[in-house]
Amino acid sequence: MTIALAQTTSTVGTRILSVGSYRPPRIVTNAEICTRIDSTDEWIQERSGIVERRWAAPDESVVDMATTAAERAMAASGISAEKLGMVILATVTHPYVTPSAAAEVQDRIGASNAASMDLSAACAGFSYAVALASDLVRCGTCTYVLVVGVEKLSDWVDHDDRSTAFIFADGAGAVVIGPSDIPGIGPVVWGSDGSQKDAINMTQSFIDYRDVGGEVFPALTMQGQQVFRWAVTEMSKAAQAALDAAGITADQLDAFIPHQANNRITDALVRALALPDTVAVARDITHMGNTSAASIPLAMDAMLESGEAPHGGTALLIGFGAGLVFAAQVVTLP
Ligand code: UT7
Repeated sequence: MTIALAQTTSTVGTRILSVGSYRPPRIVTNAEICTRIDSTDEWIQERSGIVERRWAAPDESVVDMATTAAERAMAASGISAEKLGMVILATVTHPYVTPSAAAEVQDRIGASNAASMDLSAACAGFSYAVALASDLVRCGTCTYVLVVGVEKLSDWVDHDDRSTAFIFADGAGAVVIGPSDIPGIGPVVWGSDGSQKDAINMTQSFIDYRDVGGEVFPALTMQGQQVFRWAVTEMSKAAQAALDAAGITADQLDAFIPHQANNRITDALVRALALPDTVAVARDITHMGNTSAASIPLAMDAMLESGEAPHGGTALLIGFGAGLVFAAQVVTLP
């Protein structure tokens, strides 16, 4: 017999209540990168916008960085950790298949009533997690959700590979998502094109490394031009669709916070969306490099801290990367 079951129902709006981030203290200059690859400070700055990046200490883990960012976001939210219903941690650099990094963070921050899980959507991971967290709250499954984007990419880059060594870096950012009378997280526009899985991949699997061997420990590889082309052509459409879905126009934005992949990609998106000069544009890549799932919350925290973007303002977020996958949404800034 088919029985109608009770389901959670709710009509609450949601918003990002707070943000917190963590930047490892060690600054790595382009000059240092160029001791390992045939490149120059000028080339790296001109082609990517990166002046310097941060690397975590050898004994500093994804979980350590995530915990610090999470504690800062929780403190700023004024909500006690026991009230969290879920911890979603977006990362591709936690070095254990199991248990998840999210479970360790949940324990360390004292989120004793929360479920937890890791989410693997590369540089789109933060935007994916924000969308899921918002729906968990909207459906009444959770009252508060912690979202963390964190990466220690310095562990997974071949520092002698000049197509990736200068780009990727380390850091963490976190937000708390909860109910709001005024809806503050627009519908997500997201997608996936697995036919381009080789555009950003690993040199080999860990099983092959164990069984077949190889000179280089499994490391990230990237077809930079392919990803660049896809990002500038397809991401402007996704970004515009997110604005349309939220029911706003580009001139109503206070800030544009795209994944910090390359300042030239950001420039192309700003042009394609015809963003007016009144919209503050995130350029955190200049001093942080590309921190994948961490780049959007890191940039958000910096823009709010500096006053570049207003608390309570409206921001367009878009993450994109390995998969290839992407996700965009408009949010009210905490
Ligand atoms: O976060 C996930 C998503 N990732 C992205 O969105 C990254 C997208 N891609 C990019 O940001 C860019 O493709 C890169 C920054 C990675 C590379 O910039 P590019 O303008 O696409 O460089 P290119 O690969 O087209 O290479 C241009 C030239 C080539 O020389 P020739 O053939 O013109 O003589 C390369 O050999 O630059 C050379 N080159 C370098 N030169 C100095 C390539 N890498 C380097 C290097 N230093 N590190």
